[in-house]
Amino acid sequence: MSTVEDRLAQLVAPIEADLVTMREVIDASLTDESSAVGEMTDHIAQFRGKQLRGSMVMLVAKAHGVFHADHPAVAAVVEMVHLATLVHDDVLDGAHVRRRVACVNELWDNQIAVLLGDFLYARAFGLSTELSSRLCSSLLAKTTQRLCVGEIEQSTMRHQFEMPQATYERIAAFKTGSLYSAACELGARYPGLDEEAGASMRSFGEEIGLAFQIIDDCLDVVGEEHIVGKSVGNDVADGKITLPILRTYELSDESTRVAIRDAYLSEGIPDRREQLRQVCDLEPGTNYALARADSLVAQAMGRLKTLPDSPAKHSLELMGEFVLQRNF
Ligand code: IPE
Ligand code: IPE
Ligand code: MG
Ligand code: MG
Repeated sequence: MSTVEDRLAQLVAPIEADLVTMREVIDASLTDESSAVGEMTDHIAQFRGKQLRGSMVMLVAKAHGVFHADHPAVAAVVEMVHLATLVHDDVLDGAHVRRRVACVNELWDNQIAVLLGDFLYARAFGLSTELSSRLCSSLLAKTTQRLCVGEIEQSTMRHQFEMPQATYERIAAFKTGSLYSAACELGARYPGLDEEAGASMRSFGEEIGLAFQIIDDCLDVVGEEHIVGKSVGNDVADGKITLPILRTYELSDESTRVAIRDAYLSEGIPDRREQLRQVCDLEPGTNYALARADSLVAQAMGRLKTLPDSPAKHSLELMGEFVLQRNF
């Protein structure tokens, strides 16, 4: 199999039927009597995204031999929380395109997107309370809190070109690693059994999620919207100093640093990403970020070693590769 899309299709093969169940649960939750809301949920239901977090819940469960009848619903809750974060995040970022179509804030407006995001959170948590164990709702409540802290801290650290890499990684781990981490922990532990496997998979998910965000931050700088399927260049436009930029800045001489700061901060620059590309060489910084993502995935893969061989375990290994190679 060659394309990145094919690789994704291949890695979800062991959970194909369970993904159908997960999608049915999501579709059934994305409804409301209000026709105004229905129009919006129809729009977002049409465009699914990669569903990596939901897939991780079920692959981890299968790889541990603990797949539970609730796992597809747990995966659905995780995906719905993710969807809520995206709808809100696009407001924060002033984004236009998500999953290859117009964002909710673009098609309607910010007010609607904030409210629809809240609606999705409410639906997700409502669904989680119907499950036989409280582990899903309690873990995802903590995770959502952490995710919000990540987004808040990111906002307060805008234009901080000299922040330590550890600060960047803390933010990325909070806003993105957290949900991957919860997905993998729920896969291994739900409905509340093996705490040791839960802890190991929590770290596995956190490392994969952090690597995923680092790649995402590289795609924002070097990717093209029609391939990535969402607005790119937003991080630059919005003053977010991501790992490829942090490293580029660190490697630059003082005059280039001034030009980088200007690309972010001077008034009247219509395309800040383009300006940034013109004033500095982003390649070494991007390669540094890619290498960091690589080492995080390698660390995560080490945690799979004790699991017996199975198609699901193999898929988790492929997931590590997918996260690094993805271009969308
Ligand atoms: C996008 O996540 C948000 C980030 C954490 C960078 P995905 O790329 O997994 O989004 P979808 O669900 O596939 O659209
Ligand atoms: C957002 O990170 C992470 C979330 C918690 C949604 P980004 O801002 O990089 O995500 P994209 O690039 O808009 O998908
Ligand atoms: Mg964003
Ligand atoms: Mg991004």
